Amino acid sequence: MVTALVTGSSRGLGLGFIRQLLLRPQYKRIIAAARIIDEAGELCRLRDESEGRIGVVRLSEVSDVESCQRCAEEVKAAAPEGINVLINNAGFANQPKPMTPLDLTTVEGAVDFHRTWSVNAYGPLLFSTTLLDNGLLVGSPAASDAGPSTNSTSQPPIICNISSGQASLTLANELWTGGSARDELYFHPIYACSKVALSGVTMHMARILRDRVIVGQIHPGWIKTTMGRTYANLTVDESSGKVLDVISTWKSLKQSGQYLNEEGQRLPW
Ligand SMILES: NC(=O)c1ccc[n+]([C@@H]2O[C@H](COP(=O)([O-])OP(=O)(O)OC[C@H]3O[C@@H](n4cnc5c(N)ncnc54)[C@H](OP(=O)(O)O)[C@@H]3O)[C@@H](O)[C@H]2O)c1
Repeated sequence: MVTALVTGSSRGLGLGFIRQLLLRPQYKRIIAAARIIDEAGELCRLRDESEGRIGVVRLSEVSDVESCQRCAEEVKAAAPEGINVLINNAGFANQPKPMTPLDLTTVEGAVDFHRTWSVNAYGPLLFSTTLLDNGLLVGSPAASDAGPSTNSTSQPPIICNISSGQASLTLANELWTGGSARDELYFHPIYACSKVALSGVTMHMARILRDRVIVGQIHPGWIKTTMGRTYANLTVDESSGKVLDVISTWKSLKQSGQYLNEEGQRLPW
């Protein structure tokens, strides 16, 4: 039995994860964390039709200690067995005008960075550590090829941070030193810096937890969501399905510390 938790599951990619997890029978329990629980919305409709597989918990602010702790209490009640796969998906990109982010080199941009960083980097760190401190991140029993009577070994818990291609300083450097103007249009420096900070969280958590948790990050592609906008090339179901396929290959602690795209290819840090 595998239990997964997804943050930011009210809409966009997070809601896509919930739909795709439902299609995968190995996920016996799916915990959907959302800021606002809209009883008339699609998430609650999925919960009501899921025959008990989906539990919805409130995570009112991923960058707030008390909100995360309150959410952990709800997780304890909804999934007493603990969480095996945590997908830190909740994210934020302030784009007051389409394709026109704020200028990073102004005080307004710096303030925006603080808010964006607190959701995209501090948030996943805070939520992951809250689950760890509450003993809620646990290994799952691995299916045994030799049949049910054989002792099955435990598979380590997984923390998957949803990253971005914009998290790559290597790619950013290539862009600024020779990239095309068209690519620059799609680059959002404030958001990019926040995801670079998340890369640091992923890399260092992976190293520190290397004996007990698989920690990695995945760029989910460019997706048709409020953040990705309609001209993106992937639907939420395509992207979330691909990301879950990549996560399903994470079986061993040796695979910790990876930065991959939605096809499972390595990206440069
Ligand atoms: N879309 C893309 O092309 C793309 C590309 C690369 C990476 N990503 C990453 O993929 C993830 C999902 O993005 P998306 O496109 O689905 O974005 P989205 O449509 O804007 O949805 C964002 C989700 O995060 C939640 N959220 C935002 N701020 C929060 C906060 N402070 N506390 C708790 N929850 C919060 C939102 O909740 P509410 O509904 O309550 O606002 C919503 O559920 C993000 O981490 C994003 O950076 C997206």
